[in-house]
Amino acid sequence: MTMRSCLSIVLAAGLGTRMKSDLPKVMHEIGGLPLVGHVVKALEQAGSDRISVVTGPAMSELEALVHDIAPGVSCHVQEERLGTAHAALAARPALETAAEDVLVLFGDTPLVTAETIGAVRKSLEEGADVAVLGFETRHPFGYGRLLTENGRLVAIREEKDATDEERRITLCNSGIMGFRGSQALALLEAIGNENIKGEYYLTDAVEIANARGLTVVAVAGEEVETQGINTRAQLASCEADYQARMRRAALENGCTLLAPDTVFFSHDTHLEPDVTVEQNVVFGPGVRISKGARIRAFSHLEGAVVGEGSVVGPYARLRPGAVLGAETRIGNFVEVKNATFAPGAKANHLSYIGDASVGSKSNIGAGTITCNYDGFLKHRTEIGAGSFVGSSSTLVAPVSLGDDVFIAAGSVITEDVPHGALAFGRARQVVKDGKAVQLKTRLKSAKEAAREAKGQSAGDAAGDAKS
Ligand code: UD1
Ligand code: CA
Repeated sequence: MTMRSCLSIVLAAGLGTRMKSDLPKVMHEIGGLPLVGHVVKALEQAGSDRISVVTGPAMSELEALVHDIAPGVSCHVQEERLGTAHAALAARPALETAAEDVLVLFGDTPLVTAETIGAVRKSLEEGADVAVLGFETRHPFGYGRLLTENGRLVAIREEKDATDEERRITLCNSGIMGFRGSQALALLEAIGNENIKGEYYLTDAVEIANARGLTVVAVAGEEVETQGINTRAQLASCEADYQARMRRAALENGCTLLAPDTVFFSHDTHLEPDVTVEQNVVFGPGVRISKGARIRAFSHLEGAVVGEGSVVGPYARLRPGAVLGAETRIGNFVEVKNATFAPGAKANHLSYIGDASVGSKSNIGAGTITCNYDGFLKHRTEIGAGSFVGSSSTLVAPVSLGDDVFIAAGSVITEDVPHGALAFGRARQVVKDGKAVQLKTRLKSAKEAAREAKGQSAGDAAGDAKS
């Protein structure tokens, strides 16, 4: 990676009207990360030491989100939307501080990779004054076309301003442009708005640079990385391409995916080698799975850590704060939230374990519920090591069970249980010899009496009708 200083300007002032959304376009998500976040992360990875995001008026939510994702990013407001060159100039304070490379990118083009950004920077390093990332497409409609002559990039023509002949060109502008830092501000300032839309087009920098005798090049990119998002359909197809990329990466990193197309990743899903993921698994943000673990079919995980060799699912739900140690078992219809399972602990069936800690090798029986919420506050349940919680137990938090405790099945536990103790929290069973037969006889005659009474009143009713 180059060590040159780099200022990147991400344009995100557009409303994205075609999304038909109350949310600014770049706040929509791919793989659980807002579009603008993808661009910023790729820039950070590509070694851009300064990043500015240009937002529109009244987009404080977007600014907060950007700072959340990358605290070092500066935001600038473009007060009027007068075009992409005008938007880039909204970052003037940043442009006035020297950088060797200046990049301009669009916030609605989330799939660009650090490698591709690196290729644009490399061409600047090799002497280009302006470098444009282009791509070949069979569907060029709506994109600016790259006009080349003997391998030189002479101009970019916007769809609306192009001649029929120019519209047949399939080499398009991705929107990602690099400038030699010392030229950037002067080129942007020279751009006018004499075109059909009356906008200041960033793309005009190419013709201006050529007129000034500067070196202008096109860098080849891939359509799958450069596709822009203007509509919900494009958002969906971008998500599909992103998922395909994540699945490939997981397989390349040594994970087994039994049915890759049915596994859904977040941008930050981290799977170590030799993890196996079965069919129809969804990873929300913030999941880490250690070596050799198996995530069985139809499980949903979010904000969870799964230790080495553990087995989760089928049909398990791990919510934020679920931290499973090595060799743990979380079985079908078990929900775990903000709870730690020490190594070897198990909850195999039909349980809710929330705001809790479960000690090593403890076993949580089927149907156990931690009652963590009293309608106002959340409370914790602590369970020691080597303990056994019988099926269908209700642990009313705050409550703490020691090590090697045994809770009888069906207990409602409201008080702490010390180490090694056996606790029952249920009514004692009563057995009455022969009483079942007596009870049945009584119930049977009651039923017959009821039937007779009904027959009589039906007869009365029929009699009434005749008279
Ligand atoms: C732009 C390019 C086109 C390229 C295409 C790639 C120009 C003139 N055209 O067209 O050559 O092929 O992207 O997807 O640059 N924005 C602002 N302020 C503005 C206008 C736009 O911040 O005043 C932002 C938008 O939020 C968006 C980006 O700039 O993120 C691109 O704007 P958009 O209107 O979508 O440009 P396209 O017509 O797609
Ligand atoms: Ca666009």
